[in-house]
Amino acid sequence: MGKRVLCVMEDPSELSSLQTMLASLSGELELSFVAKAEEALAVLDQSPVDVILSGIHLTGMGGLELLAEVKRRAPHVTRIASSGCAHRVTIVSALEVAHQFIPTPFTAEVLKATIARASALGTRLTDESLRSLIAGIRTLPSLPHLYQELVSAMGSATASADIANRIISQDMAMVSKLLQVVNSAFFGLRRTISSPAHAIALLGIDSVKSLVLSVQVFAQFEGAKRSPLPLEALWKHGLITGTSARDIAKSQDVGSIGVEGAFMAGLLHDIGLLVLATNFPDEYGDVLTGLRDHRLSVCDAERSVFKASHEDVGAYLLGLWGVSDAIVEAVAFHHHPGERGQEGFSSLAAVHVANSLEEASDPLATSGIPTPIDHEYLTACGLAGHLPVWHKAAGHSIVGESVAAPAKA
Ligand SMILES: [Fe+2]
Ligand SMILES: [Fe+2]
Repeated sequence: MGKRVLCVMEDPSELSSLQTMLASLSGELELSFVAKAEEALAVLDQSPVDVILSGIHLTGMGGLELLAEVKRRAPHVTRIASSGCAHRVTIVSALEVAHQFIPTPFTAEVLKATIARASALGTRLTDESLRSLIAGIRTLPSLPHLYQELVSAMGSATASADIANRIISQDMAMVSKLLQVVNSAFFGLRRTISSPAHAIALLGIDSVKSLVLSVQVFAQFEGAKRSPLPLEALWKHGLITGTSARDIAKSQDVGSIGVEGAFMAGLLHDIGLLVLATNFPDEYGDVLTGLRDHRLSVCDAERSVFKASHEDVGAYLLGLWGVSDAIVEAVAFHHHPGERGQEGFSSLAAVHVANSLEEASDPLATSGIPTPIDHEYLTACGLAGHLPVWHKAAGHSIVGESVAAPAKA
């Protein structure tokens, strides 16, 4: 049997049309339906649930209150909010407690795709407490000077989409949160949005200002001070890898969407490191010791401590947040693309090569085993002949960024 999905919808006609619409999924999902938040909690207490889909407007305990309680009682459950009111403020409030928001009316395919995306790769995290911790993350820390720059730019009369894009595009935490908000707000679009410029254009500058100044969806650096990883260097590494992946994609015939997707995937590829190093500073210190003392690869050292790697953690978080499959795949397999198996060019191929070249060029790469380029994978994808051009493209972007001594991961 598939995922166990609990649907909470109060309006009898909405509930009945939801049941009719989802009947086609009964072979793939184990669906149950209730009308009240209190009933949903009773179900949750009695039997395990993988996903809860709740309407926002419920009398008595409201839908968001219910999801907050589910987050407290069973943090590993994927939480999806739904409402006919898809105003930006409603969505952002819903995303305080829900992983994703779906505007009604939606189709069975939309729900299926949402559940698939939210559940993807969760099985790679066997540790229940790690899954619960990731499912409880509302926001990630941004780099302090970028956060301050954004707050001051958005508070100014001259705030513009270009300025917002320039600042947000440098920060993996802000980009991932922006993609979560925009993919919920524009769920009706046939494809997910993978570029911050496109996201900002769709939301409009006024919404972006309100997200930054009033709703404060981006977080300051608090809580990240104990990280044993130098986070400034991690940001630079993400930015360089993203820029290199973009330049690699430009050398292929993939169009502007593919090029921006490669940049986003490169920028976000090590977001799992940010999650692990800021939430488990002591344990991550053990990982670094393992790297130094035993010459392990970073993923092997992480698995020995967490039973999961930063690839698993990053991909799970971004999947929960509704970020596009191409980005999630690139994050999940950037050290081991052969495990994914793919044909032709992809963001994963660009990020894998950009990351490996970046690690090899890092003058401070003295601990751990740098990730080798997987030539077998590139050959299987029909991409091996492009490597010299990619090397040159990535080299240009590294020089162009003029960034020194990035982190290696
Ligand atoms: Fe990396
Ligand atoms: Fe990595």
